[in-house]
Amino acid sequence: MYSQAPGPIGIFDSGYGGLTILEKIREVLPEYDYIYLGDNARAPYGSRSFDVVYQFTRQAVVRLFEEGCHLVILACNTASAKALRSIQQCDLSTLDPHRRVLGVIRPTVEVIDRLTRTKHVGVVGTAGTIASHSYTIEINKFFPHIHVTGEACPMWVPLVENNEFHSPGADYFVEKHLRHLMEQDPLIDTLILGCTHYPLLLEKIRRFLPERVRIFSQGQRIAESLKEYLERHPEMEQKITRGGSCTFHTTEYAKKFTEAAGLFLSQSVKADKITIE
Ligand code: DGL
Repeated sequence: MYSQAPGPIGIFDSGYGGLTILEKIREVLPEYDYIYLGDNARAPYGSRSFDVVYQFTRQAVVRLFEEGCHLVILACNTASAKALRSIQQCDLSTLDPHRRVLGVIRPTVEVIDRLTRTKHVGVVGTAGTIASHSYTIEINKFFPHIHVTGEACPMWVPLVENNEFHSPGADYFVEKHLRHLMEQDPLIDTLILGCTHYPLLLEKIRRFLPERVRIFSQGQRIAESLKEYLERHPEMEQKITRGGSCTFHTTEYAKKFTEAAGLFLSQSVKADKITIE
């Protein structure tokens, strides 16, 4: 049984990408406490099977519940695509039916009809996210008239994680996938960055896309959607502590996380290493 005392909001990502979401959430909701958990030792998740992503994500959620979180955000598209539904539908009832786990795909999808004029939308993401067709399924649930084309960009996360995102090598892979996407559907006027790492490639993505294509980066939207959620659910809001703090956990070396996190955040952070299993 987990502690019933109020606790922080848990933010989970396979690695560093979720920091782009965390930063926006803390801008919009600075009053709450947060725990960020990056499963860096087992990242990337993008090329892993459904079962493995589900097991790893479930372990992370359990860990965040154990640390007192009543609400956990999967700030990772791959985990949201491959694990969220199973955790919500199969695990929460036994873990604790009063706790909640939310993802990043649904809030992104909800606003997409307002952004596209041509009703042709592109999504870039990890191989896992694109193969799951989660964006297409979710968009068409709300907006069946929207045509969705996905493009898996398996090299983009490693480029970011290895701090190569300003390099000419990154130009090659960004241009290659965007060209392929636009060849598949030249009517695309809105591109969803369906991976939390991709905001770091924004400058290059902008350069290799036709100017008329609008780029939708999730961070701000996820933060606003969380704010709306807490307004709609005061019973959950009361279970969140308000101290404005953030604790960082990584499953890799703490020093490595601390150094790399500087690429994603405007402030420096101190992380501690934990084991999840
Ligand atoms: N941050 C993950 C996402 O949003 C991608 C990183 C990974 O492959 O682990 O999909």
